[in-house]
Amino acid sequence: MSRLAPSILAADFNRLGEQIKQVEQSGIELLHIDVMDGMFVPSISFGMPVVASIRKESSLFFDVHMMVQEPIRYIKEFIKLGADLITVHVEACKDVAGTMQQIKAQNIKCGVSINPETPVKAVLPYLELADLVLVMSVRPGFGGQKLITETLDKVRKLAEIRNERGLSYQLEVDGGVHLGNLRDVVSAGVDIIVAGTAVFDGNITENIRKVKEVIEDAS
Ligand code: DX5
Ligand code: ZN
Repeated sequence: MSRLAPSILAADFNRLGEQIKQVEQSGIELLHIDVMDGMFVPSISFGMPVVASIRKESSLFFDVHMMVQEPIRYIKEFIKLGADLITVHVEACKDVAGTMQQIKAQNIKCGVSINPETPVKAVLPYLELADLVLVMSVRPGFGGQKLITETLDKVRKLAEIRNERGLSYQLEVDGGVHLGNLRDVVSAGVDIIVAGTAVFDGNITENIRKVKEVIEDAS
C-alpha cells in the first residue's frame, strides 16, 4: 500500500517541532524534507541547521529531497545530520551516477528525481543504482501548485520498467497531491506520496486521517 510522506515545506515553522510530533503521532513513518538552493529552483527553503534540530526530536525516516545544483557538495553533511534517504535531480548533477554512488557508499538510501518536463529516458541509466525514483508532479520550487496529470504516465512507465528489469526501487510522487486527485495517484502505482499543503493546511491529524482513508480505500 502507498505510504504518505508529509512535506514540512508547508509546515508553520514557528511550530515546526510540535507539528512534526503531530505527524508522528498519526502513524506516519516518513518525513519529506525539501532543501532548495535558489539556483536549481528559484526559491530558498532551509538547510542543515533545520535538519539537525528536527533530528534531535524525531525518529521519523528523513526523506531529503535536494533541489540543489551539484548536491554532491552537501551529501556527507546531510548524512551526518541524519538523512535516511537523499534524492538528487538528474537535471542538477554533472555526474549523476557518481553522486548516487557517493550516497550509497555511506549506507543510506539513494533516490533520483526528474522534473515534469524531463522524460523517463533521462533516468534509465541510473535505475540500477536507485532505491527510489521521484517523479515530480509539479515544477519544483514551491508548494501549493497544481498536479500535472501527465506526470503520472511516467510513474506507470517506471513501474513497467521496474518489472521488466527485475528492480525494486520505490516510486515517489511529489507536488499538488490532495484528496481530490489522491485516487489517481494511488492507482498509477505510487509507493510514496508526498503531500505538503494537504497535510499541513488546517488540522494535521484530521488531514492525515483522511488521506490514509482514501489510500486504504483506493488500494
Ligand atoms: C516542491 C516540493 C514539494 C512540495 C509539495 O518543490 O518538492 O515537496 O512541498 O507541496 P504541495 O503538496 O503543497 O504541492
Ligand atoms: Zn519535495
